[in-house]
Amino acid sequence: MPQVLPLAVLPLAVLLSAVLAGASQEPEQSCREKHLQSPAPSPGHRWSCRAEAPLKMTAHRLLGSLPLDEVKDSSVRTVNRCIFSQSQPTPLQGALQLAALSKDVLEKVLDLDDSVMQHEDLPQFLSGGKLFPGSFPLAHRYGGHQFGYWAGQLGDGRAHLLGEFINRKGERWELQLKGSGKTPYSRSGDGRAVLRSSVREFLCSEAMHFLNVPTSRALSLVVSEEPVWRDQFYNGGVRKERGAVVLRLAPSWFRIGSLEILTKAGEPDVLRTLLNFVIEQHFTAINPNDPNKYVAFFTAVVNETAHMIAKWMSVGFAHGVCNTDNFSLLSITIDYGPFGFMEAYNPNFVPNSSDDEGRYSIGAQANVGLFNLQRLLEALLPVLSLNQRSQAEHILRGYPQIYHSRFHELFRAKLGLIGDEDDDAYLIAFLLKLMEDTGADFTMTFRHLSEVTLLRLQNDSITQEMWALWDLSSHEFFSDWAKLYVQRLRSQHGDSDENRQYRMRAVNPRYVLRNWMAESAIRKAEVNDFSEVELLQQTLTEPFVKQKRAESAGYSSRPPAWASQLRVSCSS
Ligand SMILES: *[C@@H]1O[C@H](CO)[C@@H](O)[C@H](O)[C@H]1NC(C)=O
Ligand SMILES: *[C@@H]1O[C@H](CO)[C@@H](O)[C@H](O)[C@H]1NC(C)=O
Ligand SMILES: *[C@@H]1O[C@H](CO)[C@@H](O)[C@H](O)[C@H]1NC(C)=O
Ligand SMILES: *[C@@H]1O[C@H](CO)[C@@H](O)[C@H](O)[C@H]1NC(C)=O
Repeated sequence: MPQVLPLAVLPLAVLLSAVLAGASQEPEQSCREKHLQSPAPSPGHRWSCRAEAPLKMTAHRLLGSLPLDEVKDSSVRTVNRCIFSQSQPTPLQGALQLAALSKDVLEKVLDLDDSVMQHEDLPQFLSGGKLFPGSFPLAHRYGGHQFGYWAGQLGDGRAHLLGEFINRKGERWELQLKGSGKTPYSRSGDGRAVLRSSVREFLCSEAMHFLNVPTSRALSLVVSEEPVWRDQFYNGGVRKERGAVVLRLAPSWFRIGSLEILTKAGEPDVLRTLLNFVIEQHFTAINPNDPNKYVAFFTAVVNETAHMIAKWMSVGFAHGVCNTDNFSLLSITIDYGPFGFMEAYNPNFVPNSSDDEGRYSIGAQANVGLFNLQRLLEALLPVLSLNQRSQAEHILRGYPQIYHSRFHELFRAKLGLIGDEDDDAYLIAFLLKLMEDTGADFTMTFRHLSEVTLLRLQNDSITQEMWALWDLSSHEFFSDWAKLYVQRLRSQHGDSDENRQYRMRAVNPRYVLRNWMAESAIRKAEVNDFSEVELLQQTLTEPFVKQKRAESAGYSSRPPAWASQLRVSCSS
């Protein structure tokens, strides 16, 4: 079972950033020299010369296949005819603190072990103050449709792609720093990310992974004393916050906007190059010599995007900013901003408190996905024949059907139903309607249904302890629904109530990253107490398993009264 390192108590976690101006690579021989000069290592010290650079990376494939910006100037500007610009991270100022680390990523993705924690320069490596050997920092050029309109050039304005790491299993992972300083794409931004948004991204991307939702991962969170100024609610209240860097990983960071900008800029040759690269690297089921490969690619993205959004819905996740620049070509969840997990069931739930129109409400996500796929299709037009274009349009018309069938598959599993019966859609819709009317908690209603016995459901003897189900059962039609549900379950031959509960508990989490939980951890983190970040991280690595510490912290209890006053802070 994944465990989390108790970072808050690590003696070496707090280090002064004696960071040289500009990131530099440690020359190989300095390790040896340092070893010879330094006093005897402390007990338990295991890093060797090899550990001097905790990780070796490469950027050969990216650099060898994709055009690089010919202008070397790092100033903010319009960039043409390339996929990446060279850009060095700007080291964070002041004391650095390794505030959190994912042991699962460390071990299962990066093939490292705890001994790397002894490395005195680790916080620098994880925040851009030092570079892993073989890395070649890049900022990606992309565009995007934001809030329905073409926004022109966007690009990595505060992120640096370090290169790729190929692990023992042969998986390729692209490592990226977020909050690591300005790039040619920074527009008016300062290139930084604040502690608050970084804690949220770190915790949520890891939590989503353990909820089995396709997502980017996060290795670490480094916080600094560097002051960063933010207007948290866009209301003129500028506040000093602390800069932080998350090291995040994905098989690829390309977005729908990565292709869009090439079409908008009239660069079909670069578009073709990027598409061929993405297909060859990440869509290995497609034959690169197939003349229909771009249609096959589109088909796969349509399918997987429907799948991703259905998964979001099945855990009550609202991304919050579904712009085409925030939508991965690999259909993994990326760019955690003002996201939220829905508590009281409400299809109009909007996590971004400034999104007054509810453009990105939880219930609108499937449609927004369609809008984004339409933009993807437009971006592909230069490489499609007329016939292929109409094939692609036909595929897109199938999107609602794919989405609905995924959605129902996931919700049938959430209810423990075996097989697919005509009335199942009605049973699901009926339940959601009861939840909507009563404002029952989404996550815990399903969890309590996984924990309650059929007998209790049947004779309407729900106890207050099962608070979400208790709320639901106040509905005048609850017993009608329960009757149908129990009938449906009883018709499953060879199934037992224990088996049903067991199946349901494996897909209905007891813990999700509720806003109030993140907020409480952030308040402590602001004053260097990372214990709650750690507790949340640990809890959320096993969201389907009841845990003592999580229960005492109230993570499955009715949200505290102050939670309802919270607004998601938008600036990041
Ligand atoms: C669609 O996605 C599902 C789930 O990832 C996969 O099993 C299926 O093979 C995909 N179908 C196509 C046509 O890509
Ligand atoms: C996601 O979208 C928002 C709004 O379009 C944009 O400001 C942001 O830079 C994008 N990326 C991330 C990492 O949030
Ligand atoms: C929240 O929504 C508002 C209104 O649409 C938008 O201007 C703002 O950029 C959004 N916040 C983020 C972080 O994307
Ligand atoms: C529910 O009903 C069954 C059978 O009618 C009965 O034996 C049982 O005691 C009831 N359970 C509760 C908790 O009321």
